[in-house]
Amino acid sequence: MVSRSELFRECQAALEAAGNPDARFDTMCIFQDCLGDRNPLFSPLEAVPSSAEAQIRAMTERRRNGEPLQYILGEWEFYGYPFRVGAGVLIPRPDTETLVDNVIQLCRGNGMTSPKIADLCAGSGCIAVTLKKELPLAEVYAVELSQEALPYLRQNIALNEAAVTVIEGDVLAETTAARLTGLDIVVSNPPYLTAEEMNDLQAEVQREPAMALDGGGDGLGFYRRLTPLWKRALNVGGFICYEFGMGQHEQVGNILAENGFENIKFTRDLGGIVRTVTAQKTEENNG
Ligand SMILES: C[S@@+](CC[C@H](N)C(=O)[O-])C[C@H]1O[C@@H](n2cnc3c(N)ncnc32)[C@H](O)[C@@H]1O
Repeated sequence: MVSRSELFRECQAALEAAGNPDARFDTMCIFQDCLGDRNPLFSPLEAVPSSAEAQIRAMTERRRNGEPLQYILGEWEFYGYPFRVGAGVLIPRPDTETLVDNVIQLCRGNGMTSPKIADLCAGSGCIAVTLKKELPLAEVYAVELSQEALPYLRQNIALNEAAVTVIEGDVLAETTAARLTGLDIVVSNPPYLTAEEMNDLQAEVQREPAMALDGGGDGLGFYRRLTPLWKRALNVGGFICYEFGMGQHEQVGNILAENGFENIKFTRDLGGIVRTVTAQKTEENNG
């Protein structure tokens, strides 16, 4: 039998040797998960049961081979809520919490107690589910096309006991947009990487679905098409809220202005990067 500290040292060293800069953190997450103990090194001399040892070694090997830690663990936290993740669905990023904060503040600040919200490109459901949890009276719809992502979306709605309605469809299609009217908020974190960025992805990001990342050409294709299409589904006074990539804020702001949106406001993420925008459909530009 191997002790916790011996096995920990061995796994951390294996990840370090593979060039993993977060070897200790990743090893800790694997130990916490396999041993069901938040502080596995508080009892360093305790023997690791052989089934847990096999599981820890297998997970460490997958991590050594470059699989994202979140996929290996199968669950990741977003805004304090658990989300099931795995191959085929984008891993929720902390940057996206800024977008969720934007929507919550808009609703609370504008007296929208029971807003009707559509999350376009919902993926794991991290945005839609979190909004439903934080704004319990909201009517929340999650639109997603990927057959790989949809099962995670449904699982996460159930896991968090959030009454979110799934709409399986292409967010770029008129027929999908026509299914929702009278929206107060359209929120989206669409694919926004450029063709150049897609060719230069970090090894781990390459494990995530291209469909979740590829914004086509200059990365702005979704903003150009979603904005006029979903504006029609928005109530006058309603808001559209987007996340985008570093350096895209000016162009996304221009797309919104060209489509008649007003009160265009940007927010920086926790890393100081301009990451999100909110814009209002006002009476004057109703169309
Ligand atoms: C950047 S990910 C965002 C996922 C999730 N909202 C988040 O913030 O983690 C974009 C998502 O858009 C979905 N998607 C891509 N093209 C789509 C389309 N035409 N219609 C609906 N969903 C689409 C992808 O499958 C992916 O789940």
